[in-house]
Amino acid sequence: MHNYLQANQKRWDQLTIEHKNSEFYDLAGFKAGKDRLRSIELDELGDVAGKTLLHLQCHFGMDTLAWARRGAIVTGVDFSQKAITLAQELSQELAIPAHFYQSDIYELPNVLAGQFDIVFTSYGVLHGLPDLANWGKIIVHYLKPGGIFYIVEDHPFFRVFRAKPEGKFKAERSYFYKEEPQRIETRGSYATEDKGTATVAYVWDHSMGEIINSLVNAGLQIEFLHEFPYAARAKFPFMQQGKDGWWRLPPEQHGTIPFLFSLQARKQNE
Ligand SMILES: C[S@@+](CC[C@H](N)C(=O)[O-])C[C@H]1O[C@@H](n2cnc3c(N)ncnc32)[C@H](O)[C@@H]1O
Repeated sequence: MHNYLQANQKRWDQLTIEHKNSEFYDLAGFKAGKDRLRSIELDELGDVAGKTLLHLQCHFGMDTLAWARRGAIVTGVDFSQKAITLAQELSQELAIPAHFYQSDIYELPNVLAGQFDIVFTSYGVLHGLPDLANWGKIIVHYLKPGGIFYIVEDHPFFRVFRAKPEGKFKAERSYFYKEEPQRIETRGSYATEDKGTATVAYVWDHSMGEIINSLVNAGLQIEFLHEFPYAARAKFPFMQQGKDGWWRLPPEQHGTIPFLFSLQARKQNE
């Protein structure tokens, strides 16, 4: 594995320890039966009962297990050993059947065989990946003919902007992919804010064109691409949470830029 990914893996091991006890993940609530999945993926992916589902970058498996609670036959993959161990413990404790594998997704064919009805991935995955062309090939490798790939993820457009005082945001980062990642020193994460340990992350930006072409070039047929003017958490400090749980820009700015996208693509029948 590349040095950058090794550094990211170490960071995710540390974050797993912190996320386990975070309010954001509300593990106690999940154990008591609270749902983890959000309206976008629930409405768009629909009924998963009886379907085999491979969850890429599953973190410690809460969403994977949430799909299993809906009847999917699930397999989760993540390169953080701490996350996978916790996912396995949760699966046992809650008696929700699931398989979890520790692997860098680029090396997954070395540890996991088989093909799935659905390959799923969500919320905060792409900027950790250095190479979307091979990501697309991994997805196709694991799909049955006729199977679907589904992603709901941060929209690359809003990632260009940085929050400024008085509710403003300004384009400061590149929209386009660069081979050399950005090195970011952070404290904590989206789930712990600045309360956590200091870590270093290496991230890559991927444009919408790059995301789509990586899937098309791997042989998938895009069925839809949806864009949403709201986020799963506050991406800028002045965003406001609605009764539906989604975070939006204040009314005078709402609807100006997308914060999330979802995409479904299908592997053709042979
Ligand atoms: C933001 S988290 C995903 C969060 C998940 N959607 C959730 O809500 O729990 C990103 C995950 O990707 C994993 N990850 C990052 N790069 C990876 C790689 N190359 N191979 C496998 N897992 C990776 C990290 O360990 C982390 O668990």
